[in-house]
Amino acid sequence: MDLRGARWAPEQGPHGGAALRERRPGDEKSALQRREVLRLLLGCAAAGQVGLLTGCGDPDPETRVPLADVPVGRRVRIRHLGDAVELLRSEDGIVARSLRCTHQKCEVFWNAPDNVYRCPCHPAQFDAEGRPLAGPVTEPLATVPVRIEGDTVIVGTPAPAL
Ligand code: FES
Repeated sequence: MDLRGARWAPEQGPHGGAALRERRPGDEKSALQRREVLRLLLGCAAAGQVGLLTGCGDPDPETRVPLADVPVGRRVRIRHLGDAVELLRSEDGIVARSLRCTHQKCEVFWNAPDNVYRCPCHPAQFDAEGRPLAGPVTEPLATVPVRIEGDTVIVGTPAPAL
């Protein structure tokens, strides 16, 4: 049998093992599809390495924090999906607030003596509820869905509707 110029395609052998057969029309299309699937998988892996959110199996949309780590009345800074989020627990419940400035996304910091959030990039200030006070901002700091389940604070997914 002359194998020069022959093009071969993998297939399952009669006993379940791998075998080769000559390519048929249509094999090119399936090879392209396999390459496309591989490219997408590699793209997803690369996106996962840099923490991008994609449709490639997103990271867990919830961040869990032990309730004991969020004492009542204290502002607790956590990371949720790569972003800074502040948890503020009161006797009435808990609030999660994004610490991304609504101007150009710098990370704001709570300034307790002045009772404001300050942006280090430009002169924006937000009040204790995240409302804009000064600077180039017009939008409040975003709130993030949060709930308490047992002894865990769950950030990122609204509580299921009852
Ligand atoms: S990024 Fe915060 S004021 Fe510009």
